[in-house]
Amino acid sequence: MVTLTQDSPALAEHYDVAGLRQFEHGKLLLQDLGLARGEHVLDVGCGTGRLTELAAQIVGAAGSVVGVDPLPLRIDIAARRRLANLVFRTGQAEDLSAFPAGRFDAVVLNSVFHWLPEKSQPLAEAFRVLHKGGRLGISTATTDAPHQINQILESLRTSGRFGGFRVGTIGTPHRVGSEELQRLFTAAGFARSELRLRSFTDTFASPEEVASFNAASAFGNFLGDLDASQKEALVDALYTELESLRTDDGIRLQRHLIFAVAYKE
Ligand SMILES: C[S@@+](CC[C@H](N)C(=O)[O-])C[C@H]1O[C@@H](n2cnc3c(N)ncnc32)[C@H](O)[C@@H]1O
Repeated sequence: MVTLTQDSPALAEHYDVAGLRQFEHGKLLLQDLGLARGEHVLDVGCGTGRLTELAAQIVGAAGSVVGVDPLPLRIDIAARRRLANLVFRTGQAEDLSAFPAGRFDAVVLNSVFHWLPEKSQPLAEAFRVLHKGGRLGISTATTDAPHQINQILESLRTSGRFGGFRVGTIGTPHRVGSEELQRLFTAAGFARSELRLRSFTDTFASPEEVASFNAASAFGNFLGDLDASQKEALVDALYTELESLRTDDGIRLQRHLIFAVAYKE
């Protein structure tokens, strides 16, 4: 089960650096959304706010950007970014009642959707706060093409060597397939949507860096359901698998994400 209570100052600070990977694909999401000067944007699950700040630079002084995230430690870091048209506050995708209907031109969820156990309410809220002609941009891990790290963890799980653990303990537990995502958009009222799959190769210096990236990205949920001895054994096995992938450049792992833009007409 995803919990919002396992974050720590160290994880939050580390995410601000390790999350450059999410920032890179977040830039593509902003391009897909075609953000323009003067627009008003809500970044849901903004984390430490790096992408939110970029959105504020793109929309300029005539526009505005609000970043919300349920983790206060991440919002504290985000709030260090000071631009006149940029505001951060705690908040969750499931409840955007702090904002009136039709307030935004664009709503962004970059690497957030796969953390949401229930999708209909967040989509209904995004739809509500968008005005007509507004659009929702989502990048999300997908069941269509699991991340390589998840494939490795899944093969370790099915090996039976670790007493079995639930898939929910593995990173990005609430992935969606593209067909399901399109169905969810339609049910929420979006008139049409455009989806594309993009793949990324991340390079890591060590297995420890892979683990710390995943721990910071998962705000304490990575392998979180395991007891200490299970975790130790699994991490040992994971590190062995990761070392076997080492190249001259480091350990290279692929991630695959759906990029979706849904339109309110
Ligand atoms: C991998 S980080 C992505 C952060 C940021 N969007 C970025 O691009 O760097 C995932 C974020 O989702 C947030 N999150 C988790 N559950 C959420 C929820 N129910 N509503 C909104 N955000 C949530 C976490 O707090 C975390 O900051």
